[in-house]
Formats: sequence, C-alpha cells, structure tokens
Amino acid sequence: MEQFIIRGGNPLAGEVEISGAKNAALGILAASVMTEDTVLITNLPDVRDINVMLEAMTEIGVKVERITRHDVMITSSRISDVSIDYEFIKKIRASYYLLGALLGRFKKAEVPLPGGCDIGSRPIDLHLKGFKALGATVNIRNGSICAEADQLRGCHIYLDTVSVGATINIMMAASMAEGRTIIENCAREPHVVDVANFLNSMGANIRGAGTDVIRIRGVEKLHSTEYSIIPDQIEAGTFMFAAAVTRGDVMVRNVIPKHLEATSAKLIEIGCQVEEFDSAVRVAATGRLTGTNVKTLPYPGYPTDMQPQIGVALSLATGTSIVTESIFENRFKYLDELARMGGIAKVEGNTAIITGVEGFTGARVSAPDLRAGAALVIAGLAAEGITIVDDIRYIQRGYEAFDEKLRSLGAEIRLIDSVREAQKFNFRVV
Ligand code: UD1
Repeated sequence: MEQFIIRGGNPLAGEVEISGAKNAALGILAASVMTEDTVLITNLPDVRDINVMLEAMTEIGVKVERITRHDVMITSSRISDVSIDYEFIKKIRASYYLLGALLGRFKKAEVPLPGGCDIGSRPIDLHLKGFKALGATVNIRNGSICAEADQLRGCHIYLDTVSVGATINIMMAASMAEGRTIIENCAREPHVVDVANFLNSMGANIRGAGTDVIRIRGVEKLHSTEYSIIPDQIEAGTFMFAAAVTRGDVMVRNVIPKHLEATSAKLIEIGCQVEEFDSAVRVAATGRLTGTNVKTLPYPGYPTDMQPQIGVALSLATGTSIVTESIFENRFKYLDELARMGGIAKVEGNTAIITGVEGFTGARVSAPDLRAGAALVIAGLAAEGITIVDDIRYIQRGYEAFDEKLRSLGAEIRLIDSVREAQKFNFRVV
C-alpha cells in the first residue's frame, strides 16, 4: 500500500503549474459521448478518477485514444451498451454523469445507484427529478437507475438544493430534448460553466451557465469539437494553503484567479500576502497565521472541497476558529487524524471549533478522503519531524503528481510502498 513520507519544516518556494480541473473533466468526458463525431479534449488531468471514467466509457464501446498524457480523442459512434457497470460507480460517483449524457442522446440509460461515500450521504434525487421533468420514466431496478423516454421534452425545473451534479446532469439531458428547458437555482461552479461551454462548442444551445438560471434550447444532434479544460481551482487552492502553512512563497501558475477569490480572501484574512496576475496567483506568508471563522457554501462561497485545507491552516493559527460545513455532513474526519499531530479541535454537528497550536509534530496518519488526504499532506509539510500519510490512493484520485509538484517547491516528500522502505529512506531532494 503506497504512502507518502514527509519531513516537514521547509518553507515552500518557487513556481507550480496547475493541471486541468478533475471535476470539469468528469462532466466533459461524459458529455463527449453525446455525439458520434470525434471530439478532442485537451488539458485533461492525469489522475485516477479520470482514468476510471475513460475505462467506464471504453466498456460501453467508446473509442478512447490517448494522444499525450493530457490530450485524448473520443469517438462514440459505436456505443454498444447504455448500461454502466457497478465497478465504475463504486470507484467514482461521477460516472453517473453518463446517465444524463446517454439519456440525452439515446433516450435510454442505466447506471447503478451510487450510494453514500466517505464525506457523507449523497442523494441523487434532484438528478432523477430533473430527468422525470424532462419526460423520462425513472425506475430503480436491481440497484440500478433505469431512465428511459420516447422523447425528452423541455420543461421548467426548480432545484430545491444547489447541486453541481444535478445541474450538470440535467443540463446534458436537456441539451438534446425537444424545446426549451429552464433550470432554476442552479449551481454556479466554474465546472458547470466549463461543461456548458463544451456542450455549446458541440452545437448545444445553453445560456446562463454561471448564473442561477440556465436556459437550454434542445438540439437534435451534436458535433465534433476541440476543447481545453479549465485549470483545477481546488488543486490551486491546495498549493496556496501549502505555501501559507509552511510560511513559504509560491507562484501558482495556470489558474483563473477569479475562480480562487473565496480562497484568496480567506488567505488574506488569516495574514497571507496574495498577489493576482492574469493567469497566476502568488501566496506568501511570513509569521504565524491568524484565526478566523469560515463557512462552506456553493460557489462563489468558500468551497467545501477547500474546507480541510483551511482547517489545517486554522489549527496552526492564533486564537480559536470556527469552521462550519454546510454542504456535506461528514467532512471533519481529518481533524481526528490531525489530533495525532497535535491539532486541537472539537466537532459539534456541522461545526468544528479549532484551537490553534504553535506547531504540529509528525505522526502516522491516514487519509480519510481525497481533500482531507491532501490537507494532511500539507499538515505534514508544516510539522516538525516525519509524517507518514496512509491511504494515499484517495489523494491520487484527484491530484496529478502531487509529490513531484511539492518536491519542485522544496518539500521533502516521497511516495513509498511500505513503512520498512521508510526506515531506509533518504530525504535527499531531487
Ligand atoms: C460536486 C463535486 C464535489 C464537491 C461538490 C460541492 C464533482 C465530481 N464533485 O459533487 O467535489 O464537493 O460538488 O461543491 O464535481 N444533493 C441532494 N440531492 C441531489 C444532489 C445533491 O440533496 O440530488 C445535496 C448533497 O447531499 C449536498 C449538496 O446537495 O449536500 C451539494 O451536492 P452536489 O453539489 O450535488 O455535489 P456533487 O455534484 O456530488
């Protein structure tokens, strides 16, 4: 089982290049099956979730040609099956995007129910409500969602909760429905906009993505396109916090600073310097960070996917901080791991009360999920001594070459296969 071993204490310095956004890429890959023409997608991150999604697509007859590590050609002219295997859904929930995509194009799709996950119960009732409103019959049979329609018809949908997944899934199906669809109370996340832009580049007619009302005029056919995925705002934010907690100075390149505003604002509030450029942000910190309060919200609020990273920073800050998680109920597990490194926090319901400490000491910890795992790595970078992070398969789901990128900034981190290997480990930085 692979692990990261880290010797903390080095302030990170230098430049780091951000990869394409995983969550945008998952939606875009699914949407690429909506045309029989060949589609070229560039700036794809080379991470595990993306590779699983490509496998799920290959399994139903999609031709996937990897041109380079980050560019892929997709041809979906010979789809043989519209049902997705449980193995894929188990590995990545987002393969449920194939439900909206296949339903839009073939008016039929079958995807296993994803169930809960490490960060809490994650219902998909809104996705299904949307498909039904478009005229599909939706049944749960033998653990799978079967959606089917003779014809999808445009409609007016109001989403009770702001949901990224439901917005994208319904938007995809509605792109190939007859007539006009209006989706209200939509998610406004950058990746919703990216999927809409991608669909429009294939000939869809979607207006308003990025606001809370999306208007779609259905089209009969979509066509070939070439499309480059936006930079990953969460990967970028993670490196920004890594700079902050190590009291470093890092230029984070290939980003859209506008997408990082909530993160930048919090970093400034806790005492960092943040400088914005056209496609880069520089984060520098010198002294101890200052505590604050933060609440996760849908975009443009502070992202839930950046909650563990700020939790680590606040654990090292002065005073007491309150973190409120308003999106997912089970996202504080990393605080128990952080306690092994000296962190002090008390969790009550969806709130964590964090008492800042002067420093962490290295310990063996385990990544509870993707973002929490990344946060524990940055805690290790700030800690005195050696930290070993177990279960890094979670981190590898969403961060491309995480250890390599951190090493290029002066971090002492290695990927190892066993603790025994750690014992003979030499921390020379390459
Ligand atoms: C996406 C992101 C995930 C991020 C989350 C919130 C992807 C692949 N994943 O997840 O990294 O943490 O957005 O920014 O893009 N809900 C319902 N019913 C539904 C759907 C959602 O009640 O049918 C609730 C959820 O339980 C949650 C909230 O809505 O409380 C937001 O979830 P949602 O935006 O759908 O998250 P995902 O799309 O699953």
